[in-house]
Amino acid sequence: MNQGKRVGIIGAGNVGATVAYSLAMLGSCHEIILRDNKLDVAKGKALDMSQAASAVRSHTVVRVAETMEDLLDCDVVVITAGSPRLPGMSRDDLLMINANITKDVIKGVAKYSPNAIVVMVSNPLDAMTYVALKESGFDRSRVLGMAGILDSSRMAAFIQEKLGYGGGQIRASVMGGHGDDMVPLPRYSTVAGVPLTDLLSEKEIAEIVERTKHGGAEIVAHLKTGSAYYAPAKSTAIMVEAILKDTKQIHPCAVYLDGEYGYEDVVSGVPVMIGANGAEKIIEVTLNDAEKAMFKNSCNSVQQLINTLNKNKFFEDK
Ligand code: NAI
Ligand code: 2OP
Repeated sequence: MNQGKRVGIIGAGNVGATVAYSLAMLGSCHEIILRDNKLDVAKGKALDMSQAASAVRSHTVVRVAETMEDLLDCDVVVITAGSPRLPGMSRDDLLMINANITKDVIKGVAKYSPNAIVVMVSNPLDAMTYVALKESGFDRSRVLGMAGILDSSRMAAFIQEKLGYGGGQIRASVMGGHGDDMVPLPRYSTVAGVPLTDLLSEKEIAEIVERTKHGGAEIVAHLKTGSAYYAPAKSTAIMVEAILKDTKQIHPCAVYLDGEYGYEDVVSGVPVMIGANGAEKIIEVTLNDAEKAMFKNSCNSVQQLINTLNKNKFFEDK
């Protein structure tokens, strides 16, 4: 139980509300505050979730922030505000729309919850994490993006499907940005400690890698009116719990690189030790030449989005 801990969630849509529900069911914190432009919808969801929390005897209360001022002194703030990816729309299409929303809300976070750890979820994830970091003025350890846990979970599920066994024993590893050029790492993926490369053929592994890269689009194609939210929300809740409980667990997260892996002033997904202070340590995994080339490609894609923001003078009103 984390008595006294408060989690703010900005954007109470599919992902945000499911993060809130997941945390409330676990009793991960004392209070969850939902903030959404659609105030009535947020109010309805908050009531509904508080009642669900009562049903499972969780002490968590879910309430609504009518204005950003009500998002006061949160320990963790999750940002899912934005537009979801629709069929035919790439994550990059969302760049300017969600960059402006992120800029708007992160300023409120910095003002009213100045000590919070921020978990970014809105897409394009790595660029939005960069925007949140620059616009908050927070130390880089306090702004993390969620994607690696989701992408690794997708890869693990695809491995299980291909093998037909291993459920619960699979550890898959994905690094890089949350885009089509993310970097699934079969060499660092295991089933009960057995390397994936000893269990599946090169062709089978290549199929899993490809499916992982397009895992989000596969779900969009089915849902048609929005994107995935159960696995994204659970992955976010895992990060929030690691912060609230100071677990020091290692998870792949999007963080600002300042020389790690040879990159500077860009955000990418790498293994991170998460604790009460956020991204407490960035782990540098040994990559072979092919993996390094894929990681470079992925960082370059994020860099292009940052370049687009700069070209549009996005950061110049600071
Ligand atoms: P959604 O449309 O269900 O929810 C977004 C919510 O944000 C809406 O309720 C909307 O009213 C609210 N909103 C918009 N502007 C706002 C503002 N200025 N202040 C407060 N609330 C605002 O979308 P969903 O499915 O929840 O996805 C949210 C974001 O997360 C999208 O950008 C999506 O692409 C991204 N996403 C990222 C993933 C990742 O792995 N990082 C995985 C899944 C989704
Ligand atoms: C996903 O991967 C849309 O980024 C989101 O499901």
